[in-house]
Amino acid sequence: MTTITKPKHFLSIADLTPEGLTTLLQRAAAFKAGRESTRLAGRTLALLFEKPSLRTRVSFHVAMRQLEGDCLYLSPEEVGLGKREAVRDIAAVLSRYVDALAVRTFAQENLDLLARYGSIPVINALTDDEHPCQALADVLTLWERRGGPRGLTLAYIGDANNCANSLLYATTMLGTSFRIASPVGYQLQPERLRKAQGYAARSGATVFLTEDPGEAVRGADAVYTDVWTSMGQEREQALRQEAFAGYQVTAALLAAAKPGAILLHPLPAHHGEEVAEGVLYLPASAVFDQAENRLHVQKAVLATLLEG
Ligand code: CP
Ligand code: NVA
Repeated sequence: MTTITKPKHFLSIADLTPEGLTTLLQRAAAFKAGRESTRLAGRTLALLFEKPSLRTRVSFHVAMRQLEGDCLYLSPEEVGLGKREAVRDIAAVLSRYVDALAVRTFAQENLDLLARYGSIPVINALTDDEHPCQALADVLTLWERRGGPRGLTLAYIGDANNCANSLLYATTMLGTSFRIASPVGYQLQPERLRKAQGYAARSGATVFLTEDPGEAVRGADAVYTDVWTSMGQEREQALRQEAFAGYQVTAALLAAAKPGAILLHPLPAHHGEEVAEGVLYLPASAVFDQAENRLHVQKAVLATLLEG
């Protein structure tokens, strides 16, 4: 997505330029403030979901309805992506009925196929690799609570998963430094790190990796965590609980960050695992604003892809 040509899809934060990302976030803030009047009457979004969802499903549905468009949900059983029907054929058929697709699936390649063989915009509503709509909401929340994004530092504690990957790209593109504490075996992939280091070199941000959560949160404006076992990894749960045992975000860890630092979590949270009981309800927690912001950022994405 760029500000120069009309974007076709939103599959990864890496599809955006820093300018495109900033424009999208400004547009999201304008929707939130009631200053944006784009409407999508007569347009239909299909949600094609292979994994469960509360926030993504509801916020996309409500976003389309508030923009005067329509939205329909296709469950895993109905779709059978690549099982009941070839991904290519699903893309071609849905392109004849609806105006855009928001897809929650496992492999990022499924999105690429839908984008290649369909003739309508495809939005990543979470894959194993990325959760770009979440990263937009994360950064908007950071702006609202801590100013920025330039000169801020975010500390991510836990699994270098889909949320971490998208957030790594979004923060470093915009000049927010990214610190991550993960155990060996669950760290950022080298090619993602290299890409983010490129963004950081241009924006003035830094990227820092450690195994020590205490070291990561030092001087951070935000402490971010996500589940240790993502959807689709359930068989690894026992192994992961052991690996991440020292990575719980507690009130004490939050207090070791910069005074006024906020807590972010994409939700759903597992209380007593990656976040200690009660920590989500501390005054520092911005997680429900973050969840609300999914609605505003997705309106900006939909308007950008569908208007005209
Ligand atoms: N954060 C998020 O994407 O939540 P859901 O899985 O409930 O959609
Ligand atoms: N990493 C989590 C995010 C859920 C919104 C998962 O993929 O299950």
